[in-house]
Amino acid sequence: MGAEQSSLSASDIRQNNVTFSINGKDYNVKTENEPDIGPTTLLVDFIRDKAGLKGTKYVCREGGCGACVVMVKSRDPTTESDMIRAVNSCLLPVFACDGYEISTVESLGNRKEGYHDVQKQLVKFSGTQCGFCTPGMVMNMYSLTRSKPGYKAQDVEDTFDGSICRCTGYRPILDAFKSMAVDASEELKRKCADIEDCSKCPCAAKGDVPKCLKPVTPGDENESFETCCSNSAMYIKLTTGEEWLKPLTLESLYEALERFTSSGMTYRLVAGNTGTGVFKNDGPYQAYIDINSIPELKQSTVQSTGVTLGGNITISSAIEQLQKASEFDGYSYTAAMVKHLKRVANVPVRNAGTLAGNLMMKHAHREFPSDIFLLLETVAAKLKIGSSPTLTRDYSPLEFRQLDMKGKVILSIQLPAYRGNEYFFRSFKITRRHQNAHAYVNAGFLFKVDPNRNFSVRDKPTICFGGINPEFVHAAATEMYFLGKFLNAATLTGAFDSLQREIIPNHILPDATPEYRRGLTQALLYKVMLGIYGERAKAINRSGGNDIERSLHYGKQTYDTDPSQYPLYQPIPKLEAYTQASGEAEYVNDIHQQQDELFGAFVLSTVGNASLKEIDASEAMLVPGVTAFVKASDIPGVNNYAIFYPEKEEIFASEKIRFAGQPVGLVVATNKEAAFAAAKKVTVMYDNVQPPILDIHDSITLAENAGKAEELILQICKSPEEPRTEKVAQTLTGEFRIGGQYHFHMETHVSICIPTEDGMDVFSATQFVDSVQAVIAAALGMTNNSINVSVRRLGGAYGAKISKSTQVAAACAVAAHVTNKPVRVALDLETNMRMIGKRLPYLTKYEVGIDNDGKIESLKAQIFCDPGYVANEATSLFAMVCAQSCYRAAGWQITPGKSLTNTPANTYCRAPGSTQGIAIIETIMEHIAWAVKKDPLEVRMTNFIQPGDPLIAVPGHKFEGDNPLPNMIAELKTSADYDDRKKFVDTFNMNNRWKKRGLAIVPMRYPQHYYDSKFPTYVAVYHTDGTVAVSHGGIEMGQGINTKVAQVVAHTLKLPLDKVKVKPTNNLVSPNAGVTGGACTSELVAHSALKACEELLAKMAPVKEEMKDEPWEKIVHACYMQGIQLTAHHQDKAGVVKPYDVWGVTLIEVLVDILTGEYKIVRADVVEDAGKSLSPEVDIGQIEGAFVMGLGLWTTEKLVYDTNTGELLTNGTWEYKVPLHMDIPEDLRITMLRNAPNPFGVLASKATGEPPLCMSVAILFAIRHAIEEARKNAGNTEWFQMDGPVTPEDIHAMSLTSKEQFDL
Ligand SMILES: Cc1cc2nc3c(=O)[nH]c(=O)nc-3n(C[C@H](O)[C@H](O)[C@H](O)COP(=O)(O)OP(=O)(O)OC[C@H]3O[C@@H](n4cnc5c(N)ncnc54)[C@H](O)[C@@H]3O)c2cc1C
Ligand code: FES
Ligand code: FES
Repeated sequence: MGAEQSSLSASDIRQNNVTFSINGKDYNVKTENEPDIGPTTLLVDFIRDKAGLKGTKYVCREGGCGACVVMVKSRDPTTESDMIRAVNSCLLPVFACDGYEISTVESLGNRKEGYHDVQKQLVKFSGTQCGFCTPGMVMNMYSLTRSKPGYKAQDVEDTFDGSICRCTGYRPILDAFKSMAVDASEELKRKCADIEDCSKCPCAAKGDVPKCLKPVTPGDENESFETCCSNSAMYIKLTTGEEWLKPLTLESLYEALERFTSSGMTYRLVAGNTGTGVFKNDGPYQAYIDINSIPELKQSTVQSTGVTLGGNITISSAIEQLQKASEFDGYSYTAAMVKHLKRVANVPVRNAGTLAGNLMMKHAHREFPSDIFLLLETVAAKLKIGSSPTLTRDYSPLEFRQLDMKGKVILSIQLPAYRGNEYFFRSFKITRRHQNAHAYVNAGFLFKVDPNRNFSVRDKPTICFGGINPEFVHAAATEMYFLGKFLNAATLTGAFDSLQREIIPNHILPDATPEYRRGLTQALLYKVMLGIYGERAKAINRSGGNDIERSLHYGKQTYDTDPSQYPLYQPIPKLEAYTQASGEAEYVNDIHQQQDELFGAFVLSTVGNASLKEIDASEAMLVPGVTAFVKASDIPGVNNYAIFYPEKEEIFASEKIRFAGQPVGLVVATNKEAAFAAAKKVTVMYDNVQPPILDIHDSITLAENAGKAEELILQICKSPEEPRTEKVAQTLTGEFRIGGQYHFHMETHVSICIPTEDGMDVFSATQFVDSVQAVIAAALGMTNNSINVSVRRLGGAYGAKISKSTQVAAACAVAAHVTNKPVRVALDLETNMRMIGKRLPYLTKYEVGIDNDGKIESLKAQIFCDPGYVANEATSLFAMVCAQSCYRAAGWQITPGKSLTNTPANTYCRAPGSTQGIAIIETIMEHIAWAVKKDPLEVRMTNFIQPGDPLIAVPGHKFEGDNPLPNMIAELKTSADYDDRKKFVDTFNMNNRWKKRGLAIVPMRYPQHYYDSKFPTYVAVYHTDGTVAVSHGGIEMGQGINTKVAQVVAHTLKLPLDKVKVKPTNNLVSPNAGVTGGACTSELVAHSALKACEELLAKMAPVKEEMKDEPWEKIVHACYMQGIQLTAHHQDKAGVVKPYDVWGVTLIEVLVDILTGEYKIVRADVVEDAGKSLSPEVDIGQIEGAFVMGLGLWTTEKLVYDTNTGELLTNGTWEYKVPLHMDIPEDLRITMLRNAPNPFGVLASKATGEPPLCMSVAILFAIRHAIEEARKNAGNTEWFQMDGPVTPEDIHAMSLTSKEQFDL
């Protein structure tokens, strides 16, 4: 079927040819010549693989992370004007880019041309760590500067509602960009000026004017839009038979639809194509119709006489139109719709995703909790649906849902007017995370009520709920019930009963429980009633009717520096920050394709507890491009990637399946699309399939029932002093559970293995080079000196790339060995989440004896961790060490244990064990405070450690020195106005039944140990210009190790910082290097670098002595002439750097909506003793980033498994929610303790990467206090177990909120 069969004349239509530009360069994709580009090829892959621009990254490929954001300029078909938008390149098909002008991060600036203001600003404010999210952040911001001149700080914050950064905790990114807004705060502008000096661009060669200082302002970039971007019709027919059409008129669209429907072809209309981010398995289709150039679908009219929205206007555009409409009589309700729509998806998705697209997703998937459908049904909008140029009809959204939409098009949406003051519209979206999250339950209410006649209900109201079950829309019985009634307490009781009867939620994991969802429907109706009553509601109830509003974020950072020692201790941005902000920083998957390179995709098991019977890859082998299927029997050497650990962890399962998601093989193909497609076609057969054990509680019970409880115990740790039972006034028992956590490193696991003449070159995203080398050598049966491993940087790791990167690297190496070709394995997010172990879940059982003051006289705690299917990384031993925290441990017995489950081999995750250990003892403190009815802080201080007290995890050792916590707490109380705020919180809680505030102060002692010192550091000086190159055994993964090392080297050699460069890590220069982790590697490598520099200076000393005040360059050259080797290589012996304690105090205030369980963190003050920080901006970044990752652990991040199969159900950004910027404290103040040099640490510093994560547990107790207040009002003052993570659902349940308490 060709173009001539369309109504478009042949001269109008371009065939098999897509044109667009990227960064000003035209691309003309002739589909006959490019068989690997099809209708599902996405822009992100074209940008990276065809255009070779590796700055644009991807992580989720579902619109959920923002890493892939680029700017698109296109033409509005209705106005012919330019539209500039940030969009997700992971959702945009290449064929849909026809006529687009695309800008990637490379177009902004680089080290040669200079950097753009947006990039510079991010660098100045230390807004990059691992840098993997950075290009997406930059392009999102850049798009705002281009699309909305005169943008305000609020616009900046609103723009980042879909951008994940796992490293920074968001504050510096927001500050950086808000400082550019027209209404930037004076504080931000001042900060920007203050740090101007220290943000010298690396392109500033000596004597040159740094090019980057040339301002590039958004206003300078109004170049014309004529390169290639014009709308013209297009038709593509591929050799596969698939068709792609771009009609310009509605008539041509109908014609195409008629052709496809009558011939029975499957087709998809392509609007924003964002629906593919949610429903990934829809299709396949034989035809695609790009409808973005049809003016009729984009045409809106907003007038006082009526409001009609074009069916395919984007959600962003709908927001603008509805905002306008809200000015007109009868349409004020659209302002509330705007507020709701701003919480649908995120800005880049809303910039592409359309109203009709969303509605059709609801049409195809009734379970989808569409906010658009819900809003339109609530206000009785009409959808105009056309099936031919002459046949259109209006339908309600509900009628549309029943309609056969084959061959039909949603043309437009008409909104009715509701004139007069009696209409009351309200909508809600209750979610696990405030931004970019689909609803647990969404709701729309439209009431016509006369407040002056006892709130008489004038018409049948509309009450709609989403998220209940696939069929549910209207609470029809309750709507009827209200008819003719007065809104009063009695009516309300009846309405709640009615809802109770008609709301029957389904239960499909990982959705929230039916009880919660039903409870929400009642609570939301109650909120509406309170809203209608307004000032006439009882004062104590009134605030229950309001949503929690959020203001702009504020941040303050306080620390000491020492200018006399600069560049050491100098607050500078990370060395790599500019290259990260420009996309020039190279990550493993950015390494350009090798000749004949292949791609490997894992095949994972789909059951959690079985024997492997057979694998049939025959169908997969038929997929064009597939070259091999590699499995356990193809491994020439050892099938074990845990050779440094006691127990075996197979690279590919050979007999037993121990968890769902376990790799059974790797499909290898010439391209990644073929590899991923073929992996789905491998059939795995199992024998003896058993129910999986997924929960640590079940696992322990099983062991206990089998009489094997003893085997779970790893150690018994007792304090030297016996319990003083005679002093025990009461004994408390309890349990405390902590969930797992997915690391969510933005760069997924990736490895490239290239067979070479001497063995294999390996590029691996690993924290543990030595292990990758050894495991590959063992797997291939090669010697270790045959394996050359190199690591430039990681895009985040947080512990996940210690042991687990070796599995990916080893599988990749086996494939390279079998095929004798270079192989790349880069996991997609879902595989990464299903296959790789996570932070270990914990279960603790405790029994604590206390005196009347709450002092602990005896404590027994069994701390069980769940290491997954194998106990190689059972972190409860670390938990035991840290559980003492800052408390006196007399009469304590701590028993760390482990209990296996059918989940992946869990692994270290930032602050492993320490997080849980500290949280456990703090939970016990809370329990004690409840029992003795005292302020928890008082109880904590009663139990504080004193000099001479035993350190229970280090037998024979005592706590020496002073406990600085009382002073730290006193200072914090003053700086944070604690006493006044506490009074305010108490009064607030007394006066408000349905909103509660919680305050918690939590202290911490974190014992910093050095587990490993094997970090060789190599320093080389070049005689021609005296510049210095360093390579070390640590891995740069965002923590700023290279920046600190360069500062130490420059300081020690007395050179300016720009003389020093840090090179990638490799196993030739740094053989046998230890694990980068445990927060201490930066310190250890800094020390090793210091020593190497001292050795170098010692070699140069005689020459320097002779040349006295000659400049460094001349001395270096003279050394060279005398044959002095200008290198030094140092590795410390174990124990050179002594352990010490890190102290901290956290104060958190929260505001909780007791009716829904939603909350916000009003303010957090974090005080950490970081010694004398080697690089304060880097350390502030570590503190903020770790703290926010901890907030995720305790609140938003919940792992849910299928109880039948053991499959992880929260396996992407749609279901697994790491914190976004609205989840961080609205006011976040970080202080690094002043005047606190560390006598033991490296150059007086302390580690910062992990302790702040332990401090984040304060959020749990702040929420707890708010809940306690609500429970008191509900008549319950009992102790209640509160586990982490605590979700809105948990908060709602623990608050004992029930309809019986809802009075007006
Ligand atoms: C990360 C993410 C988060 C999201 N969060 C939310 C959320 O919180 N709440 C919510 O409600 N939604 C959410 N969504 C869904 C989002 O709103 C939709 O993806 C978007 O609106 C779909 O529009 P589109 O233009 O991209 O549709 P497309 O993906 O292009 O098309 C979707 C379907 O609609 C059909 N279609 C498109 N236009 C028409 C038309 N005019 N007539 C007939 N059929 C048509 C297509 O054939 C296709 O079947 C989210 C999506 C993503 C990716
Ligand atoms: S990769 Fe595109 S949004 Fe995550
Ligand atoms: S810097 Fe943002 S994810 Fe690492």
